[in-house]
Amino acid sequence: MAPSIAIRGAAQLLRPPADGLPYLRHDRAAELTLAPGDLTLRAGAIAALADDGGDADVAIDARGCAVLPGFVDAHTHLPFADWRAREYEQKVTGVGYEQIAREGGGIRSSARAFARANDDAVLDQARALAAEMLAWGTTAFECKSGYGLSRAAELRALRLAAALGDAVPQQTVSTALLAHALPDGFDADGWLDVVAELVPEALAQSPGVRALDVYVESIAFTNDHLRRVGALAARHGLDLRCHVEQFATHRSVPVALELGARSVDHLACIDPADVAPLAAAECAAVLLPGAEFLGDEHVAPARALIDAGAIVVVATDANPGTSPVVALPIVLGLAVRRYGLTAREALLAATLNAAWTIGRSAELGSIEAGKRADLIVLDGPVEQLAYRFGHNPVAAVICGGELVHVRPDCAWRIVA
Ligand code: NIG
Ligand code: FE
Repeated sequence: MAPSIAIRGAAQLLRPPADGLPYLRHDRAAELTLAPGDLTLRAGAIAALADDGGDADVAIDARGCAVLPGFVDAHTHLPFADWRAREYEQKVTGVGYEQIAREGGGIRSSARAFARANDDAVLDQARALAAEMLAWGTTAFECKSGYGLSRAAELRALRLAAALGDAVPQQTVSTALLAHALPDGFDADGWLDVVAELVPEALAQSPGVRALDVYVESIAFTNDHLRRVGALAARHGLDLRCHVEQFATHRSVPVALELGARSVDHLACIDPADVAPLAAAECAAVLLPGAEFLGDEHVAPARALIDAGAIVVVATDANPGTSPVVALPIVLGLAVRRYGLTAREALLAATLNAAWTIGRSAELGSIEAGKRADLIVLDGPVEQLAYRFGHNPVAAVICGGELVHVRPDCAWRIVA
């Protein structure tokens, strides 16, 4: 049983404008409050938005600190094998992503690394990344398959994603990215036939899968394939998520909205005409400024999406190709600078709205009595998070009511 924890004297406690909101449209981000406060955690949940007595097993001195819901990273490609640093050098010296992919690099090279690595090696790397994520404040994250590129290897990726979830303190959800790149020997239509057979098998073996994903791009799949994946998701009661408008405009957003997608991710090249319909829809706009920055991609129109009232999310896109980054505070720092976000807008994008995108906002993503006690204590006010770019502001992390990480220089704040 998790200990009881009292968090005392926080300078800022991030709270939604009301309890029970599944998400908060981003034009309302200014309604998030950051008043001083205390919290009591019991049995793994937030028991009270006050210090409800003096008998806590552990007390955290949060004077001068912001206390936030743990970050939710709604778009990562964990677990994967190895890295692709050589490709990054190619990219920064002028070789394009498409050319790298056509020469056998990119996703296919990570698929070869995944095939070479045994299960322990994949899990060791993913666990180490999850530990790094935890130290940067991520208490829940999405995993994707997609580096398997064969029937058996995609099933293996989903099994390893579930094993990762069992092995780390964070909450995880799995997405089957079964249409990521074209496996050898298939055309796209032929591979989608295989995907249709694979989905029930994947669900039988890995019941934690809750979404399907597809990569729409000139080097990958088309809007017609997006429609096929959307139909599959609907047939199997799964959410549809999709990688769209990353390197070029394909007008995939209207198609995704028609299909009732839970999220459209990337959007660096979204057609301006698609911003208003997306903002009006119950579909998250998942922005990945780490991939945009490191890939020297276009910049998604975040400000327009926010002002139009979209459900905006910022995530790491942690993967060995476009975004080998797991630290949400760094990615939020990029988002604030490049998109022009306020601190509240950035935090909303990595907490409540991110939790909704992975289907978990009833338990995660905001500080409310009864929700899971996933919390982070920062070493200063929230305004410093983006401003002190590159600094890790996370002093302590609580996952499911357990104090799972304390930065050594902040150990004095914990009284057991
Ligand atoms: O989200 N765009 C497609 N998928 C990944 C990149 C995958 C890779 O390069 O390994 C992304 O950017
Ligand atoms: Fe991605």
